[in-house]
This record gives sequence, structure tokens and C-alpha cells, in this order.
Amino acid sequence: MVEEALIRLSGIHRRYVAGETTVHALRDVDVAVKPGELVAVLGPSGSGKSTLLLVAGGLERPDSGTVTVAGVELGKLSAKKLFRHRRRNIGFVFQNYNLVKTLTVLENVMLPAELDGVNRREAAAQARAALVAVDLSGLEDRFPDQLSGGQQQRVAISRALSGGRKVLLADEPTGALDSATAAEVLQFLRKQVDDGAAGMVVTHDAAVAQWADRRIDLLDGALVEKPGAAR
Ligand SMILES: Nc1ncnc2c1ncn2[C@@H]1O[C@H](COP(=O)(O)OP(=O)(O)OP(=O)(O)O)[C@@H](O)[C@H]1O
Ligand SMILES: [Mg+2]
Repeated sequence: MVEEALIRLSGIHRRYVAGETTVHALRDVDVAVKPGELVAVLGPSGSGKSTLLLVAGGLERPDSGTVTVAGVELGKLSAKKLFRHRRRNIGFVFQNYNLVKTLTVLENVMLPAELDGVNRREAAAQARAALVAVDLSGLEDRFPDQLSGGQQQRVAISRALSGGRKVLLADEPTGALDSATAAEVLQFLRKQVDDGAAGMVVTHDAAVAQWADRRIDLLDGALVEKPGAAR
């Protein structure tokens, strides 16, 4: 059986024009990620890793090529429909957690469901269940500042996947963590993907890439083809 990819990027080009110079941030990039698959994205600084994630998540539009996420081609959606598709299907995790500092742990995890119009009681129940699943129950009423970096990142990952989102895009999610805490977060990420999500994780760190099913390498915006690598 051929399983449908949850993330499919085909022939992606993305340029940034700044005055006289044009940066080719992505050049003819193809990537497909299936449910249960975690793909590590590596490459030097400036090679296009973050741009790739932003394009995959519909936060940047490509200049050419198509992006299909959870069966929907993003380029065909109006801004409003894109926003909704993104919120329902795509979770982002950033290096610096991006938790809302003025909201408690519970409120942070509830936020996407609430934005989606789920009533507060239902959203709280879902969020409590998500926090039990990530072994953070008991911390619901703390604020992000009162958690360790690894705990904050686990909150961010559970928020990203709350409400049944299946696409997880993480940009250097362990960059701010020591190696033991990073391993704990990666194990958690791995488990979420094993449960059926499709994940892309950007990293500078080959150790992080070992948690992935495969890696792709970018150089100057283009995929580096590994000799003999299966595609
Ligand atoms: N908004 C922008 N305007 C102009 N150029 C940009 C913009 N965003 C990114 N770039 C350029 O596009 C290229 C790719 O950037 P990108 O952020 O994707 O790299 P990266 O691989 O994530 O780097 P790092 O490892 O440092 O995070 C770089 O040359 C960068 O300067
Ligand atoms: Mg980056």
C-alpha cells in the first residue's frame, strides 16, 4: 500500500529580494513526509532550513512549486482558508518555545482549540488530557517561567499537536537545551510521530538527526543528493 504523504513539497523555489541582491533561499526542493515519519533537515546557517519549514507550514508562499499538506494544496487556498487549514493541521515548535508568558501551562495548551471556537470547558478538558499524556499533569497552573526548558518545550510540542493536528514542524527545538534534556524532548517528539504525525525537525546537530527516520541536507537552498541514497 502506498501511503499518502502528509507533507509534500514539489519543485519549490523561494527567493528573497533585498535591494540589489536576490537570495535563492530554496532552489527546486522536493520533500515528502508520510504519517509516522520524522525527517531531519540539516545544513549550514543560511542554507534555507527555516525557509523550508515556513513554506511547508504555509507561513511563506513559494515563488513556484506546490505545497500539499494533509491532502490540500496550500497555494489554492484563500488567505482565510489557509489560516484555518494551518490552525487545524499544522503545529510549529520553535527554538525558544514561543509559549505565551502571561498564560498558564493549561491556558497555553488550550489556546489553539479556543481560537478554533471550541468552548472553554471542552478546550480545558482536552488540554488536561494532553498534559497527562506528556507527563506534565500537576503543572497546569504554572507559568512558563516556572518550568525547566525541557518542560517548556514539551508543553510547546503538545500544544502544537493539540486538537489532533498531524503535521509537526520544529525549528531547532532543542537548541536551547542541554543534551540530556534535548534527548528527553526528542524522545517525546519521536513518540508523537510514532503515533501517526508527520514531522520535520531542523537541526544543526547530527545527534538530533539520529532520532529521525531519515535526513535531508540543504546547501545554498538546494537539496544535497546523497550518493546511493534511496529516494
Ligand atoms: N525575510 C528575509 N528577507 C531576505 N532574506 C532572507 C529572509 N529570510 C531569510 N533570508 C535569507 O535566505 C537564506 C536562507 O535563510 P534561512 O533562514 O532559511 O536559513 P537557515 O538555514 O534557517 O539558517 P540558520 O541555521 O542560521 O537558522 C539566507 O541567506 C537568509 O539570509
Ligand atoms: Mg533557521
